Amino acid sequence: MRKVRYFKRHRMELELRHPRPPAELPEGCYWMPWSGQLLDMHAQVLCACFAGETDSEVFPCLANLNGCRDLMTAIANRAGFCPGGTWLVANKDCCIGTVQGLLDDSGFGGIQNLGVVANCRGAGIGRALLLKALEGFEATGVKRAFLEVTAANTTAVRMYRWLGFRSSKTIYREVEVKPPVPDYVGVGI
Ligand SMILES: CC(C)(COP(=O)(O)OP(=O)(O)OC[C@H]1O[C@@H](n2cnc3c(N)ncnc32)[C@H](O)[C@@H]1OP(=O)(O)O)[C@@H](O)C(=O)NCCC(=O)NCCS
Repeated sequence: MRKVRYFKRHRMELELRHPRPPAELPEGCYWMPWSGQLLDMHAQVLCACFAGETDSEVFPCLANLNGCRDLMTAIANRAGFCPGGTWLVANKDCCIGTVQGLLDDSGFGGIQNLGVVANCRGAGIGRALLLKALEGFEATGVKRAFLEVTAANTTAVRMYRWLGFRSSKTIYREVEVKPPVPDYVGVGI
């Protein structure tokens, strides 16, 4: 029998005229603007940020590198892809954060897949990525931004609320629960 699980998600919106601080990174980090050559790097960072997180249960493609590559390819090929809302953050060693932007037909910039690798969280990089994507949306002339967030992701919800995003709709996403794969399947003699 098919088993499903429902994840509560919020659609949150923000008027871009709402005052907000500039997008500033902590010392030692720098911005990498979008280029097609960075598609695979975005996919790798996405995988590092989301694997093991609740959102990789909600969107199973986020749980593995091939899924993240397919997702990044689909985003970069969308008509509304917004290069100015799509950024990587790097430090001296590697890339540690990602965000992507998509513009929709109703005049919203959509924040996609904001993530910071686990050992770099809590230093303001998530907020900076969010603010940088919003700057990119504003530069295209759109007036509002939106995102969707899993309700149980309290760190992310708090960050969005801090910036002024407000919930406009509750969505329940249905996800099929796959039976666990046994570690070892014996062969009968
Ligand atoms: C959500 C996420 C992007 C935040 O990134 P970050 O770089 O840690 O964010 P910031 O340092 O800018 O901090 C934002 C808030 O989170 C809090 N925070 C960050 N790391 C935390 C941690 N490990 N435990 C508790 N709170 C934490 C900060 O204190 C801050 O809260 P405050 O506004 O009350 O001070 C990051 O946790 C992440 O990548 N999560 C996994 C992917 C994900 O769920 N993305 C969101 C999809 S909608």
